[in-house]
Amino acid sequence: MGKTHSQFVCQQCGYSQSGWAGKCPECGNWNTLVETVVTQAPRNKSQDSNKSKIYKLSEVKVDETQRLKTGEEELDNVLGGGLVPGMVVLVAGEPGIGKSTLLTQVALNTSPQPSPKTGEGVRRAGEVLYVCGEESASQVALRIKRLSHKAIESSRDHLLMFESTDVDEIIGKIREVKPGLVIVDSIQTMVTEELTGGAGSVGQVRECASKLSVVSKQLSVPIFLVGHVTKEGNIAGPRVLEHVVDTVLWFEGDRSMPVRLVRAVKNRFGPTDEVGVFEMSEKGLVGVSNPSQFFLAERVKNVPGSVVSVVLEGKRPLLVEIQALTVSTTSPMPRRVATGIDFARLQMLVAVLIARAGLHLSGEDIFVNVTGGIRLADRGVDLAICLAIASAFLQKSLPGDVAAVGEVGLLGEVRMVAGLERRVKEAKKLGFRVASAESGKSVSAAIKKLLQD
Ligand code: TYD
Ligand code: MG
Repeated sequence: MGKTHSQFVCQQCGYSQSGWAGKCPECGNWNTLVETVVTQAPRNKSQDSNKSKIYKLSEVKVDETQRLKTGEEELDNVLGGGLVPGMVVLVAGEPGIGKSTLLTQVALNTSPQPSPKTGEGVRRAGEVLYVCGEESASQVALRIKRLSHKAIESSRDHLLMFESTDVDEIIGKIREVKPGLVIVDSIQTMVTEELTGGAGSVGQVRECASKLSVVSKQLSVPIFLVGHVTKEGNIAGPRVLEHVVDTVLWFEGDRSMPVRLVRAVKNRFGPTDEVGVFEMSEKGLVGVSNPSQFFLAERVKNVPGSVVSVVLEGKRPLLVEIQALTVSTTSPMPRRVATGIDFARLQMLVAVLIARAGLHLSGEDIFVNVTGGIRLADRGVDLAICLAIASAFLQKSLPGDVAAVGEVGLLGEVRMVAGLERRVKEAKKLGFRVASAESGKSVSAAIKKLLQD
């Protein structure tokens, strides 16, 4: 290793200087200078060329049984079947959403336990190192107590807690202990002395993550990094980390609701767009294996304003309930309130209902809500939103067994959506039939057909 020092490098043009500046003197962009470690390693050419090896395809080993189960089935599915040795996983989400809770559960599950009920054929991690950068070890122990009283006994010697925010010290401990799994909570609290910036700065976060990533690969130990994001999702951290880590999991959900979605947005070792569904309970996060039933649990049938839809979250079809309420108003600017769907999308669909289906909604306040507290990005829910609004406005309910699926265009046409077969199958399981593009070519035809009293 050579001497290290730090430079401030522009993320846009690559210009570097020794001090920070708000504006890059070279390209003129603002807030692009990020503190970066510069290593001046003495290069020995002849040695370097022998370091890396060329492999034939036949020599490369792919061993799926090497995957380490986290003990949380929903999480394992999202990861593509479990953790791969040397895999770095960023778990990103808003504060308080449940990141520490989930990873504490993983730490307990993967530590060897006396009578492993699910243990057959499951690779055990051995020791788990939980790096407490945010909370004290006793706070983590307190959480464990809340999760399960028994677990604290069985994991007594296998769950190692280390209170530190010094990444170099942590890496030293990882090399010394050689744990089977490392959890760093959180990456925003980590610092390396090689940089002058404070914890949580882009430079620190990125440098600490890449240092941890190097050890992870060298020792083949999987590492979870916890990363906080704000509502806007753009705080220093998770965004700049995406290319440093192998897998990025986003924790989503409304904190006031029990449902949590864990979504893989990047995955070098498995499918992306896979989602895991959890419920936050008194005793931690519980995997929900039949989310559709869960989302429809409190549904009241045959009420105007309620329509079921089947959305695709990743490859997984989910039945959800869309609720709408319309109230006439004398305000020149009627309110449009969207919870769980895109606001601009709601405005567009209301415009389509007015212009293409002839509904007199311009004097109505309109509220649309996805029950269960999840956020939908799938366009396949458009038709259900339109039908829910029309149903509320006309005070007519849909047949109780209809699930509406379809994207709605500006011409008022209903379009086919991806994965219709899978959606129909999931709907059938719960006793619903899907109304989609085939049943009505336009929104107004669908309204006429489905909203009869
Ligand atoms: P936490 O995992 O600490 O969030 P994060 O690490 O993402 O900031 O979760 C904190 C919230 O979860 C807190 O509001 C309490 C709640 N909670 C439960 O409802 N049940 C539980 O068993 C636990 C441990 C936490
Ligand atoms: Mg936490």
